[in-house]
Amino acid sequence: MKKITISDLNNWKALGEKFASITAYDASFSKIFEEQNMPVLIVGDSLGSVIQGKPTTLNVSIDDLVYHTKCVRAGSPNAFIISDLPFMSYHNPHTACESAAKLMKAGANMVKIEGGSWLINTVKILTERAIPVCAHLGLMPQAVNIYGGYKVQGKTEEQATKILENAQQLQRAGAQALVLECIPAKLAQQITLELNIPVIGIGAGKDTDGQVLVMHDILGVSANYIPRFSRNFLAETGSIEAAVKKYIEEVKQKTFPDEKHSF
Ligand code: KIV
Repeated sequence: MKKITISDLNNWKALGEKFASITAYDASFSKIFEEQNMPVLIVGDSLGSVIQGKPTTLNVSIDDLVYHTKCVRAGSPNAFIISDLPFMSYHNPHTACESAAKLMKAGANMVKIEGGSWLINTVKILTERAIPVCAHLGLMPQAVNIYGGYKVQGKTEEQATKILENAQQLQRAGAQALVLECIPAKLAQQITLELNIPVIGIGAGKDTDGQVLVMHDILGVSANYIPRFSRNFLAETGSIEAAVKKYIEEVKQKTFPDEKHSF
């Protein structure tokens, strides 16, 4: 696989070519993903659940993310790696810069932060300092205690308007990509059309520019449960390589996600 950059993601958006991405946490799997031409890897703080076995992502530290980013980069020299800034590692711009620099030095190409308009200044400051930012809206797992559980977001008109406005504000502030998690497919479609930056969906329907799934979910080995929007591709194919290949292909062909896997 050739080296993937943000320009590739922008081109795919412009051309209407859908792209897949997957979470990754170690070198063995990131090597397999790269061999199957997975262009984007997300080193997510979901590692709190799937690696550490915790009920939420809140205990994941910046050191955990640095460690796993290094592991993923070791197995995949060419994928575009987006690494999460974990809970309370970006609550002010100064801390955000220090945390983000650690992830970039560990091998990330971009950092991801969960939140709306309160992050505008942080996004400006990070991008001015050469740290590319992916915003994350919709269901933001670090806010689970505000929601009282993992719930689909943006179902009311008021919530939907707020998510759309936040997406526009974060793009204006300099965010170069956006993850939308667990929102109605129609809203995700509208946001994807209105933004110039690539939008990656998880539980956000078929119309976002890219898709991401948690690797343990597509391999059917999640410690807790497989969410409704995900799919066990391993069960359908019989090998890890074939499962990854089928997931990438179905995203490109726009057959995944279908309505059964959307809200
Ligand atoms: O933590 C994570 O793995 C994520 C992805 C699912 C986007 O945020």
